[in-house]
Amino acid sequence: MKTLAYKNGDQMPALGLGTWKSKPGEVEKAVYEAIKIGFRHIDCAPIYGNESEVGEGIKKAINEGIVSREDLWITSKLWNDSHRREDVIPALQNTLSDLQVDYLDLYLIHWPVALKKGVGFPESSEDFLSLDEVPITETWEGMQDAYRQGLVKHIGVSNFNINKLNEIINECKVAPAINQVEMHPFLPQNELLNFCNSHDIHMTAYSPLGSGDRPEKMKKDNEPTLLEHEVIESIANTHGCSTAQVLIAWALERGTAVIPKSVNKERIQQNFNASEIKLKQDEIDTINALDYEYRFVDGEAWDLAGNSYEASKFWD
Ligand code: A2P
Repeated sequence: MKTLAYKNGDQMPALGLGTWKSKPGEVEKAVYEAIKIGFRHIDCAPIYGNESEVGEGIKKAINEGIVSREDLWITSKLWNDSHRREDVIPALQNTLSDLQVDYLDLYLIHWPVALKKGVGFPESSEDFLSLDEVPITETWEGMQDAYRQGLVKHIGVSNFNINKLNEIINECKVAPAINQVEMHPFLPQNELLNFCNSHDIHMTAYSPLGSGDRPEKMKKDNEPTLLEHEVIESIANTHGCSTAQVLIAWALERGTAVIPKSVNKERIQQNFNASEIKLKQDEIDTINALDYEYRFVDGEAWDLAGNSYEASKFWD
């Protein structure tokens, strides 16, 4: 299994299990089965509404002696309603308690968007705090507090563009270790990846299979489908594997981490086996040439009239 190395020598398994959209009632078993299959990296977040069930799956695997806590890489994320410095550690404590662990391997700022305390998703511009009120550097101070207290081994961000990364890099004492963003052949994020590579920031690809199980309100008409794309299908046929496996292998070849979500035991096994697939250079080139620039998770939830988060600048 490929790993991504951190400055202190820690190794993050490049292939992890995603848990966004995994329903409570399904996710405990999925996490337990994934660990049995060999997954050692679990990606979580409190806004997914399932961290306590994820924690049950982890606990079961540990109790049965399949793994120890130290064998696992557990990532979670700070929700947008806890961006004030003093709110970071209490939010983290809730996640630790739900996951039934006493530290995280990695903690990320989920979005560069601040919401008022208690807001899950905003319904009006009133639900936001502006970045003048709570600058991202203030939130990063809170992340650094968590790091210094040993509650998290590494800190990073998610959904950050180059400008936002620079804001943190220019001010921080502890640099962001990773940026987790949507990344797949329709959105290869080449510029961001080059920037992160040149600043020793790892990247994790979310929605690597196109997140077809997103809520309908997040979908647009005539979306392209990654899992049924003819180019991906033809490469899959050559290797006698599935299109999902080609997409995962492509992400791993680029040196990123990748977190396909599944709650199905056979597909979890299939996704794990993708780490054995070696794509040829001409196949990688063919996939890279697709470059549609299609975003499945476009941040529309933050684009409410009257707030200070302009959609047009969000990803640039
Ligand atoms: P399921 O959980 O039933 O397996 P993403 O990781 O991009 O968010 O995509 C998740 C979606 O892809 C879910 O609908 C998930 O369904 C599906 N999925 C996960 N693994 C595979 C696979 N190997 N083949 C086909 N679909 C998959």
